Amino acid sequence: MMAVPSRIRTQKGWPDATMSASGQVRWGIVGTANIARAQFLPGLRQAGGIAAAVASRDAARAAQFASDNGIERSIAGYENLVTDPGVDALYIPLPNSLHAEWTIRALEAGRPVLCEKPLCGTLPDTERVLEVAGQTGTLLWEAFAFPFHLQLHEIKKLLQDGAIGDLMEIKSNFHFSLRNPANIRLSRQLQGGALLDVGCYPVRLAQELFGPSYDAAWASAVTGGDGVDVDTWGVLNYPGGRRLMLSSGLGRSYDTFTTLEGTSGQIRITNPFHPRASDSYQLVVGSSEDRTFMSGAHEPSFTAAIRHIHAVLGGSEPPRQLAVETSLPTARALADLAAWLRRPEPVLPGAADGSSSATAADG
Ligand SMILES: NC(=O)c1ccc[n+]([C@@H]2O[C@H](COP(=O)([O-])OP(=O)(O)OC[C@H]3O[C@@H](n4cnc5c(N)ncnc54)[C@H](OP(=O)(O)O)[C@@H]3O)[C@@H](O)[C@H]2O)c1
Repeated sequence: MMAVPSRIRTQKGWPDATMSASGQVRWGIVGTANIARAQFLPGLRQAGGIAAAVASRDAARAAQFASDNGIERSIAGYENLVTDPGVDALYIPLPNSLHAEWTIRALEAGRPVLCEKPLCGTLPDTERVLEVAGQTGTLLWEAFAFPFHLQLHEIKKLLQDGAIGDLMEIKSNFHFSLRNPANIRLSRQLQGGALLDVGCYPVRLAQELFGPSYDAAWASAVTGGDGVDVDTWGVLNYPGGRRLMLSSGLGRSYDTFTTLEGTSGQIRITNPFHPRASDSYQLVVGSSEDRTFMSGAHEPSFTAAIRHIHAVLGGSEPPRQLAVETSLPTARALADLAAWLRRPEPVLPGAADGSSSATAADG
């Protein structure tokens, strides 16, 4: 795994940033994305940050988005925001294919970045971005909010306490229903597809619980949109017979149900990724120890991550979950799973009976 650069390890706060007089972090948002409106801004406000500016490819769209969402300034052109002296940190919620370019530009301009997940749509782009983060020492986070949630912390404690014995299998879903055919997730050119969009969550969860090293990957998918995977399932094998079984897609009702299977019980989680207060996880061991716990999610999903970034930039917490520490294993696993989606030859029924080596390619 890529080492954390010494400048980041030793850094207290963010020396190049001129924070607002109030000490609040001033954020710039690159693009007028839905996720910025629906998740980032509520999280930012709850965490006490300032929505200082939004940039769009289109000046009128930036102005409208700023006015609709209470953002102080609108800016035409992403470049003008990246170099704007009035922002301390940048949030990049662009289509996946643009993450690398704009994250690199922001890092080179010395702006700490929260880039949307997946950090990039390809492994080489991820490696390039992490290289620049390492070289510049500029702080970079990938916007997986759930590792910062209390819920995951509590579930990890249950696992460490041996509540379900040894964790052997994670079965994890992330499905939702996409109706707009023009959505960026259905575009091959913009690096859409279910695996990158939502399959990345189970992969990242497995990394949190099993660690970064897996032995093998396998995946399959139904294709849709303009040639992206829209319904995708797969397996990551981990040492000792442990495994992630993931199911992700863009064509079913919302489902994030996840089960952690141990040698002596299960933890069933209604939503490990973006829990609401009504979500819960259930410890099932077949005895009086069985219990249901509420998620404890009483604030927007992004709040804890943004609060942490504020604390790092203010010098009161060392950085956690930096992209240089966490993003490469996720990107590798996604690339290995995606490699299976490009294979032309699925094994057909009967291929194992020894009488033929039939594959789809044999017709
Ligand atoms: N962490 C999470 O919970 C979460 C949830 C949802 C999405 N996401 C991630 O956030 C990112 C954005 O998702 P979204 O659904 O919010 O996207 P979206 O609403 O389609 O917004 C993407 C923005 O990118 C800009 N853009 C630049 N080039 C574009 C192009 N060629 N086509 C379309 N838009 C372009 C547009 O802003 P301008 O035109 O104004 O420049 C657009 O508003 C994705 O990486 C996604 O995976 C994360």
